[in-house]
Amino acid sequence: MRRYTQITIAIHWLTAVLVVIAWFTAVGGRHARTDPSYVHFTVGLAVLVLVVPRLLARWLGAAPHVEDPQSRWMDLAARAGHTLLYLFLIALPLSGWYAASRLGLPVSFLGLDLPALATPVQGAPGQIADLHETGGTLILWLAGAHALVAIWHQFILKDGTLERMNPLASSDLADSRE
Ligand code: HEM
Ligand code: HEM
Repeated sequence: MRRYTQITIAIHWLTAVLVVIAWFTAVGGRHARTDPSYVHFTVGLAVLVLVVPRLLARWLGAAPHVEDPQSRWMDLAARAGHTLLYLFLIALPLSGWYAASRLGLPVSFLGLDLPALATPVQGAPGQIADLHETGGTLILWLAGAHALVAIWHQFILKDGTLERMNPLASSDLADSRE
């Protein structure tokens, strides 16, 4: 069973921490317009930025294949789950950026001013903003289920799945590039 590369492992855990911080720093409703959380914007946009090298790494073959998966449906379920997580990691920051634009709030990332994705409106920011709010909580449930499945693989099926993402795992597990 091969491991992810150290850089992919680092991005995985950094992203997980950033998603949790984004959730805790989120403000909705009237506060979003009058007292927005710029920490929320920055942390959320960092999630989007980090998806890029991660997907590139996947395309370049840095995501290790599960050799001899225990069953075909399990392999398909893992792929579907990971794809869904990636969709959330892209759609959430983009919909948040859109919601901020609709609320007329400036969006910048580490000092770089970003263009508005929509024209500001006076009233409610609309359905995409609503989807962003719901999606922001859904991703935590999804990630929780994903973590439980990883733990089940590790301790019940004993197939070393968690070791693949463990930054401290011993080097006798071959790195995916080796
Ligand atoms: C917000 C939190 C999290 C997000 C967004 C997330 C996202 C992802 C994604 C997208 C992958 C697929 C990587 C790839 O193959 O390209 C992955 C893999 C993995 N994640 Fe997470 N994850 C989160 C939290 C966790 C937690 C809390 C655990 C463990 C308790 C965990 C354990 C793993 C493991 C073991 C893999 C490798 C699975 C395999 O090799 O099939 N993740 N994660
Ligand atoms: C992983 C990334 C993100 C997560 C998990 C997330 C999560 C959330 C959640 C849960 C809410 C609802 C808060 C509440 O109702 O109390 C929210 C609201 C909001 N978020 Fe995010 N967010 C993310 C990224 C972003 C980004 C990148 C931006 C802007 C650049 C953003 C802008 C907003 C705005 C403007 C609202 C208020 C929307 C409204 O009141 O209609 N978010 N976010």
